[in-house]
Amino acid sequence: MPVSIECSRVSTLSRFEVIARHDISIHIQIFMLMCGIVGYIGNREVAPLLLQGLKRLEYRGYDSAGIALLNGSLSVWKQKGCVSLLEEAFSGSAAIIKDVTIGIGHTRWATHGDPSDRNAHPHVNAEGDIALIHNGIIENHAVLRLELEKQGYSFVSETDSEVLVHLIDHLWTQIPLIDFESAVREALTLVEGTYGICVLSQREPDKLIVARQGSPLVIGVGVDEYFIASDAAPLVEYTRRVIYLHDGEMAVMRQSGFRVSTIDNIEQDAVVSELDFKLEEIEKGGFDHFMLKEIFEQPVVMRDVMRGRIRLADKTVHLGGINDHLEELRSAHRMVILACGTSWHAGLIGKYLIEEFARIPVQVDYASEFRYRNPVVGPGDVVMVISQSGETADTLAAMRMAKKRGAKVMGLCNVVGSTIARETDFGLYTHAGPEIGVASTKAFTAQVVALIMLSIALGKNRTMSDPEIAGLLDELVQVPEKAARILQRNEEILRIAERYKDASNFFYLGRGLSFPVALEGALKLKEISYIHAEGYPAAEMKHGPIALIDKELPVIFIAAQESSYKKVLSNIEEVRCRKGRVIAIATEGDREISRLAEQVIYIPHVSPPLLPLLTVIPLQLLAYHIANLRGHNVDRPRNLAKSVTVE
Ligand code: M6R
Repeated sequence: MPVSIECSRVSTLSRFEVIARHDISIHIQIFMLMCGIVGYIGNREVAPLLLQGLKRLEYRGYDSAGIALLNGSLSVWKQKGCVSLLEEAFSGSAAIIKDVTIGIGHTRWATHGDPSDRNAHPHVNAEGDIALIHNGIIENHAVLRLELEKQGYSFVSETDSEVLVHLIDHLWTQIPLIDFESAVREALTLVEGTYGICVLSQREPDKLIVARQGSPLVIGVGVDEYFIASDAAPLVEYTRRVIYLHDGEMAVMRQSGFRVSTIDNIEQDAVVSELDFKLEEIEKGGFDHFMLKEIFEQPVVMRDVMRGRIRLADKTVHLGGINDHLEELRSAHRMVILACGTSWHAGLIGKYLIEEFARIPVQVDYASEFRYRNPVVGPGDVVMVISQSGETADTLAAMRMAKKRGAKVMGLCNVVGSTIARETDFGLYTHAGPEIGVASTKAFTAQVVALIMLSIALGKNRTMSDPEIAGLLDELVQVPEKAARILQRNEEILRIAERYKDASNFFYLGRGLSFPVALEGALKLKEISYIHAEGYPAAEMKHGPIALIDKELPVIFIAAQESSYKKVLSNIEEVRCRKGRVIAIATEGDREISRLAEQVIYIPHVSPPLLPLLTVIPLQLLAYHIANLRGHNVDRPRNLAKSVTVE
């Protein structure tokens, strides 16, 4: 019998910093993963709510969508394509859907079986009285499928997910006196892999059951109603009170209450947290795309990352989440930074800064490589994992491995309450707010601001003098205003994009801290414009890639004024005399560069350690405009999902 639990406790979630900027609420932002789940039980008309929820999850990437409603009997609509197609298919069914107040919805990103109507979720059993949606991968699906087929079950899809619904049906039918909840529970004990599931049945029509193992699920708590979603984006317009299910937990919801337990039926204390982001933050706010909105949010985000952490009165940095660990960090044999994609690029910037300011050796590793070799890591090492979502499968696995081998593990995450944030020993949040665009922009600059502050905190009393720290902090707080000035060059960057949009290859070159920015610029371009782009250390060009240069190749140089500026100018000369088309990111007032480059995008002057915060912005805008001019869906690039939670 489900027990109604009244919860108002606010969780501290982990030993991550407790965010003190708002009195009671903690920052809970959204999980970003491929495939989307929504569900509802309560008293509202459910169909529009589910469709709207699925639209809010579109940014995660998907190729088919479906919903199931329970109104005496189960009705399922599902098909390949976007949610608005589903909505159209659905529009003729007004009579069936009116007054229905319990249902589930799903957006699928194909892993097992192609994107098609039959592979779309929800999946139903043969009698059509149980419907289930699933995120994740059932690794032993083939064995289970074989067993179920022997028992007479036929499968209509090629998905791993379909086994779950038949397994529940089978156990419910076979085990005497078993109820819906126990059937789900029993089924889950037989599966290996990852799941976030939401399931309903007309045999017990007053219940919605969810469970999580490796695939996030959030329960929104209303008055006599519950909302389910794979991230908080679909919930925020209805409730701010949420419960994040942990791995190995399930929940049974009825209108009258809910019960959270482990899969082996040990009752859990459900902790209700407060969402502190607003609906506007997950809407486009007048911009054509989330990516553009997020690029333009960067000045505000940079201020948010610094807020409460830089004390200008005494020119010091205070990082709540790591204050108690500064000595441990300073005395580490070395630091290892683990991340993927854009977060890895931020990690490389972190390495340069930490080595420069704190003289701690730093190794930066791709999480996906680290986890599959036998890395030398253990007690005395501090491993910093960087992840916007806090859910990236490779980063999570690498982090667990390092922890198991005795390293201290620190996190730098954006999504509060995410798995990585919860499992690290301590850490920092980036406070970039929800990032919806698949191409990461504001999360990157937020990570870099946090890494700059961290390296200053570590460098204090080591290589950095107080006046040096004071000077850098004074400059750092002015960076947001300088970033805003770069954004005013948007039209100018659009013109450059128009000129180069048809190129088939791009080369991005930079030295020192501009090398990771070159990598990031190239990644931005390729992921949304589908143009091949390569980032390289400028000096390495002559060791091979110079052979690529001809009159068709745009070469973007990050040539701001810093110690290697003159050397970069020589690299530009080398490209020019091979007829490469040079575009330079340069410092305002630099006359020399305009003689060498076809196009120059100017950025305000800033000290070298802060340069990545500014030089990356024109590259983000350039990628955005090129992709948009080529007619691509900038927010949802092909083949990509916001967060890669599978290998
Ligand atoms: O959420 P994470 O920071 O762990 O994600 C890592 C990468 O998957 C991510 O940065 C990816 O490279 C972005 N699409 C880049 O724009």
